[in-house]
Amino acid sequence: MIELVHLEKRYENAVPLADVNATINDGEVISIIGPSGTGKSTLIRCIDMLERPTGGKIILDGENICDPGYDVIKACRKIGMVFQSFNLFGHLNVIENIMQAQIDILKRPKSEAYDTGIELLRRVGLANKEKNYPDELSGGQKQRVAIARTLAMDPEVILFDEPTSALDPTMVGEVQSVIRDLTNTGKTMLIVTHELNFARAISNRVFYMDQGGIYEEGTPEQIFENPQRDLTRRFIQKLKVLELTIEDQNYDFAGVGTEIDRYCMRNDMSSRTKYRIRLAFEELTSNILKPVLDHVPVLIRIEYSEQGDNAEVTALYGGDRFDPTENKDDLSYNVLNSTVSSFTYQYDPEAEHANTIRIRI
Ligand SMILES: Nc1ncnc2c1ncn2[C@@H]1O[C@H](COP(=O)(O)OP(=O)(O)OP(=O)(O)O)[C@@H](O)[C@H]1O
Ligand SMILES: [Mg+2]
Repeated sequence: MIELVHLEKRYENAVPLADVNATINDGEVISIIGPSGTGKSTLIRCIDMLERPTGGKIILDGENICDPGYDVIKACRKIGMVFQSFNLFGHLNVIENIMQAQIDILKRPKSEAYDTGIELLRRVGLANKEKNYPDELSGGQKQRVAIARTLAMDPEVILFDEPTSALDPTMVGEVQSVIRDLTNTGKTMLIVTHELNFARAISNRVFYMDQGGIYEEGTPEQIFENPQRDLTRRFIQKLKVLELTIEDQNYDFAGVGTEIDRYCMRNDMSSRTKYRIRLAFEELTSNILKPVLDHVPVLIRIEYSEQGDNAEVTALYGGDRFDPTENKDDLSYNVLNSTVSSFTYQYDPEAEHANTIRIRI
């Protein structure tokens, strides 16, 4: 079992890990996903002791591996890592690459290290490649050798940092299938990946990283089908977001219109979606929410998902309850409501913005 307790890693100009907490049980397969720069690599490099955290603890089998006195050799035996760029030794052939750490660190006799290597090469589909040098292999083959080398150490935990992202697309499948095969062996696996379908297929839990920690976690079904928090949802649905604050009725109508047009063009939207987004925005700010804009600003959030050319326009505002759907005679409301897929209103006095209008385009 691995426990991450208030784990923190700060650099001078970045705080990739502000406060990470998690319990990883033996045999779990966990995918770590999230936008670039959110500390995914930093997290697994801390667990592999390649980086020293600036705070908190990593408890492995009851011992804090961040303690200065913790035995690095012990960690090498328990934890293995597979890198994006393979990190094979170019001057050693395949079997020598796999034997070296077994002999140096595990003190295995050469013959045993050799037999283990040959058996593992067979397992990753590379029987008969033992005498080749790394530069005689394809990227997919190199990565499978790297996986065999890690397995040869018989670690309890295997960490993968984007194991397929340096590969030609034709080779991604062969490496993914080797990793998928390992999920049946009962080893604990943490896999950083940008390939969401793969993450979904192989893991029993998913960590979504953002804002200095594990922002949301859950089963693949929960994270991919029903994410609970805003940033997770945006990431999973690949949402493109534009937020505009309209201060009052005298806002720069033309300037904001241009900004929306640019956003629509950048995301290559259909002209129908673009037209509806503009209509929703203009009816809301020029007509429907005019009485609101006399008193409080309105935040307009436009979200667009390439998957299915879907868009949503949300208007958020504080102040008193103001429900435009109650005004059945309002022409602007009726025009908009009959054009878009849905127009709903919600009031929650506890929320940051008490009033929410949600329009599905
Ligand atoms: N050695 C370092 N010195 C200073 N800053 C660093 C160092 N390593 C990482 N960072 C910063 O920490 C942040 C997190 O980096 P990290 O590589 O963990 O992100 P990531 O989630 O793995 O991103 P990606 O998906 O692009 O691989 C970034 O802002 C990065 O610039
Ligand atoms: Mg990374």
